[in-house]
Amino acid sequence: MLTPADLIWPLFVTEGQGVEEPIASLPGVSRWSLDGIVARAREAADLGIPCLALFPNTPAHLRTDDGREAMNPDNLMCRAIRAIKDAVPDIGVLTDVALDPYTTHGHDGLVDAAGYVVNDDTADALVEQALTQARAGSDVIAPSDMMDGRIGMIRAALEREGFVNVQIMAYAAKYASAFYGPFRDAVNTRGLLKGDKRTYQMDHANAEEALREVALDLAEGADSVMVKPGLPYLDIIRRVKDEFRVPTFAYQVSGEYAMIETAVAAGAADRDAMVLETLMAFKRAGCSGVLTYHAAHAARLLNA
Ligand code: PBG
Repeated sequence: MLTPADLIWPLFVTEGQGVEEPIASLPGVSRWSLDGIVARAREAADLGIPCLALFPNTPAHLRTDDGREAMNPDNLMCRAIRAIKDAVPDIGVLTDVALDPYTTHGHDGLVDAAGYVVNDDTADALVEQALTQARAGSDVIAPSDMMDGRIGMIRAALEREGFVNVQIMAYAAKYASAFYGPFRDAVNTRGLLKGDKRTYQMDHANAEEALREVALDLAEGADSVMVKPGLPYLDIIRRVKDEFRVPTFAYQVSGEYAMIETAVAAGAADRDAMVLETLMAFKRAGCSGVLTYHAAHAARLLNA
């Protein structure tokens, strides 16, 4: 069975007051200033959606080579977490840990002179970013960067600071994918990105590596794992679920959302039927929940 409780709603946060910025490549999805984000949180709670996933569109002048804005306790992400928790205390907040919305090069980590992401320095930065989000009130830390070793380091740091109930959802099996384009528009990294992310995200030809990544992240203390993108990787979801029997989530990513909306706009598909069929496919494959830009729409359909 599919219910609104299975859904996690990704939202894009932007500076300002009363601001809604539609994202052309994600028709129907906007960036919202904090007031709009709080309104979306209320809407989600009313619909029975238990959790939001937040992504900041960091102002260009705050993006640096080292992404240090990610560790600013008053950055857009932290202000959004606090605003939601103040207004809608019962909704869960999941926060992405990766440096890409904060760097001038659009990579998820720190890069060397050759543009290659350096694992260990990045992991130290990610620990600081995760702690900054936990102090602001994040319920679920979701590292999406795919660096090695960072789950264990983040878990240890959270324990050290007493955040024993903050969960970690590891983007354990994240593929270097052609389906992330609209997301990069939403957080304004598409134009910045030099090269691609294939040195740290997985090759889509590879299935066994996904299982190894999941095993590592679980051993390091992840509470749940995510497979991303979603629909093209249902085989991976099923294998992860069968092998590890842990809460397994899928991210129906921006390119998947755009495919559905483009098909609907072309008169080639029925939105409601497609949304519910794809979300049910994730449940069938073994998912405990799905991150989807269609969350509010799907919840409305399910509640009708
Ligand atoms: C990056 C990140 C990405 C997404 C979530 N976190 C894009 C990327 O790896 O370049 C993509 C989500 C989507 O496409 O909806 N840390």
